[in-house]
Order: sequence, then structure tokens, then C-alpha cells
Amino acid sequence: MKRTQAIELPAEEIERQRGWMREFAALEDRPQTYCVVTYGCQMNAHDSETLEGMLSEMGMTKAESREAADFVIFNTCCVRDNAQRRALGNVVWLKELKKQRPELMVAVCGCMMQQPGMGEQILRQYPFVDLAFGTHNLYRFAQLMLQAVKSRRRVVEVIADDEGSIPEELPVRRSSPYHAYITIMYGCNNFCSYCIVPYVRGRERSRASARIIEEARQLKAEGVREIMLLGQNVNSYGLDVEGELSFAQLLSALDEVGIERIRFMTSHPKDISDELIDVMAASKHICHALHLPVQHGNNRVLRSMNRRYTREKYLERVAAIRAKVPDISLTTDLIVGYPGETEEEFEDTCSLVREVGYDSAFTFIYSPRVGTRAADMPDQIPEDVSSRRIQQLIAIQKEITHARYAAYVGQVHSVLVDEASKRDEHQMAGKNEYNITVNFPGTPELIGQIVRVKITSAGESTLRGETID
Ligand code: SAH
Ligand code: SF4
Ligand code: F3S
Repeated sequence: MKRTQAIELPAEEIERQRGWMREFAALEDRPQTYCVVTYGCQMNAHDSETLEGMLSEMGMTKAESREAADFVIFNTCCVRDNAQRRALGNVVWLKELKKQRPELMVAVCGCMMQQPGMGEQILRQYPFVDLAFGTHNLYRFAQLMLQAVKSRRRVVEVIADDEGSIPEELPVRRSSPYHAYITIMYGCNNFCSYCIVPYVRGRERSRASARIIEEARQLKAEGVREIMLLGQNVNSYGLDVEGELSFAQLLSALDEVGIERIRFMTSHPKDISDELIDVMAASKHICHALHLPVQHGNNRVLRSMNRRYTREKYLERVAAIRAKVPDISLTTDLIVGYPGETEEEFEDTCSLVREVGYDSAFTFIYSPRVGTRAADMPDQIPEDVSSRRIQQLIAIQKEITHARYAAYVGQVHSVLVDEASKRDEHQMAGKNEYNITVNFPGTPELIGQIVRVKITSAGESTLRGETID
């Protein structure tokens, strides 16, 4: 059933949390410097910006390095086994550091913590971890830290909160003055059979559009030139709240704010509406870049994955977008080695990739996640078969990327300049509207500006060019 409004946490609760932040800052024997280590997707990256915002309010400054920090927090991901293992491996690495510096505080948070039993596992297997919490209680971070420091005891708090809530007005320390993430919705309702995200991020909750538009206005006033709207399935924005704008309407409203570039991710192919395509085509600021994860090219597999579209429907949507936004740059996510995937079914993914012609693709080997439907399916694919298939798929995509990038040579792109190249300070790097890195000769004064660059050559994953007036 739809709610009548977004389920925001009461303002008093956020005020209380800000009180804990001030109280923490006033402690004498608290850590002084912090390091936030982030894994996973943009959602997590943005959560880490909120953690850093809270840490600043708590009187702490960013450490020069992980080794030098008084407090290290791992914001974890569990979408695939290797993401989780990498995070845990690094947590263990801190055990040694803590032996040398017993005052070092260690915390673990994020999606990994939301898995059943993980709280107990951390308590049992990682005795040097001082604090652990999940995704639903991130806003309680200062209170939990205060508890841990004052009591000198370990604190673990994970809330199994299906409904979830929306914290507004928490402090945020953004990692760039020119780009900004804006979360437009939390959670996911799709339950793709392989995916753990709905279990660790809860149900879909849309933020109020008025809040989002106000945040964008503020960011524009601060000089931000590109916003990235975040959600696991942005196309279903607003559907959970009575009378809320649709995603296409929200995009139109944001287009009016006047920030030069608007991006969004992730779009679920089943929900790409004609209305959205029309808004993209008519807009002034929405980038002509669309991440449209297809996952697989075979209909049996897509059905088993619970993706709720067919290969034909997906290709029809791609054609519809290309008809109205001919220069659209498409990217995707692909999974190989899904349970029962036959050689012929895998070939369907390869042929779909060729047929669409993506600018680039993220390719993953299927990783069984405990608690998901696919994890219990028969015919799990052996590692050597999946490895061979992913190599084959990567090689195909590499060729396509090469051809697509070569076709950009001679065009003039607008590039938001990010930084000087690490190897050569006279070389600048930035992203074009298609989100492809472009390198060109220039000077650091250009950082943060949008310049026009004529593309002169194409590399494997970047373009090269020269500025024109
Ligand atoms: N909400 C986004 C995806 C979030 S997860 C969407 O629906 O597109 C990012 C990507 O990780 C997915 O697109 C999928 O390709 C991959 N992924 C998710 N679960 C996985 C698993 N169990 N094994 C391998 N890849 C997985
Ligand atoms: Fe996972 Fe599917 Fe939700 Fe994406 S849409 S987060 S793949 S369940
Ligand atoms: Fe990972 Fe959580 Fe994102 S599981 S991919 S960090 S939503």
C-alpha cells in the first residue's frame, strides 16, 4: 500500500544525533583523526560522505593515511563474495596495527553487516573491532561511537528494519566541489533471484521530491556542476508515495534547476518508460548516457533471474531510446555462470552484447549469496567454465568499445575537468557527457570547468583530445 508521504525520521531524532556529535567532540580522550574505507556502489560511496560529515561534526579530521588514523571505519559491500572477502581481509590487516597501537578504534558498517548472523560473527571472530552497525542505523553513528568510547566496550547494533526510514539533514562531507551524489530513493523491491541488495537495503523508500529539488538548488548555489541521482532502481522513484512525482517528472523539475549535468543510476530496463525517454530527449542538462543493466541475453535465464523483461523487450527499449536520443551512450552489467547457464545460453549474452553495441560493460561471475533464491538452485556452474566465459565476453566487449570509441574521434565533446594526470601535470583529465574519461593538454586552472575538447584518438578505456575555443 502507498504511504501518504515519505517516511522521514523525525527532525527531533536528527537533532538528538547532532547533540551526540557535539558531545563526542567535547570528549577529551577521543580519537582525533579518521579514515573511511569504502567498498561497493555509489550508494555506499555517498553513505561514506555522510559518515565523513558526521565525523567532522564529531571534531575529527581526515588522517593522512590509513596507518596514521586513530579511527578506521570500513563501509562494506556484500553483493559478491569477493567484495566481502576483500573487506574482511582488510579488517584483519588492522589487527596487527591495533597490536602496535591499542588506542586505535576500528568500526565496520554497511551492507555486509545487514546479513543475518553477521553481528555475532564480528563479535566472535574479530575481537579487535570496537563498533559494528548496519545500513538502517547509519544515522545513529555518533550515538554508538559515544557509547563505545565512554563504556570502553564493544558495541554492535544491527536493525533488521524492512520498512526502513529516511534520514534527512545529516551532515555530509562531499568528496568533490563539482560533482555531487543525490540519493533519491533507498532500498529495492525487485528481488532479482541472485541479488542480496533487497535483503540488506530494505524496501523502496523515495525521498520527498521537494527535498531533492531543494538539495539540487543548494548544490548549484555552491558551484556544483554535475549531479548523480542515486537509487537501485530510479525508474520506480515515487511509486511508493501517494501523489509523488514520477521519475520522469522529477528529472524535468531538476532540469529546470540549471545544474549543467544530470546523471542517474541505476535504471531497471523493465521500467524505462516512453515518458522518461521523451524527458531525456527534450532536456537541456540530462546527459545522454544510460546505464541499463541487462544481466543476460537469454530468456530462460532472464526469467529465472526474475528480471521481468525478455531479450526482445530489452532490445525494443534500446531501439526506442536510440530513436529519440540518437547519440545515447549505453553501458551495462552482465553476469556469466548463473546456475544452469548452458553454452548456448551464454552465447545469447554474447550476441546481445554485439547487437546493442555498448560503450562499455561491467562483467561479473555469478556469486551465490546466502538467502537468495539462486543460491539454492541446482547446476551451479564450475569456476573454470565461468572464468572462460567471462574472458570471452570481456574480449568481445573490448572490441566493441574500441569501435565505439574510434567513432568519437573528430567529434567535439564537453569535458568537466577533474584533475591533472598523475604522470604529467600538463595533462588534464575529465569526463565527457558520456561519462568517458578524456585526457588533453591543459593547465590546473581548468579543474572544475567545462571545456570543449576535440577528440583526436581513442585508447582502450579513455579518449584523447585537444581543447578548442
Ligand atoms: N540495482 C542495480 C544493480 C545493483 S548491484 C540494477 O538492478 O541494475 C550491481 C550489479 O552487480 C548488478 O547489476 C549485477 O550485474 C551484479 N550482481 C548482483 N548480484 C550479483 C551476484 N550474486 N553475482 C554476480 N553479480 C551480481
Ligand atoms: Fe539487485 Fe535486482 Fe534490486 Fe538491482 S534491481 S539491486 S540487481 S534486486
Ligand atoms: Fe554492495 Fe550494498 Fe551497493 S551490497 S553494491 S554496497 S547496495
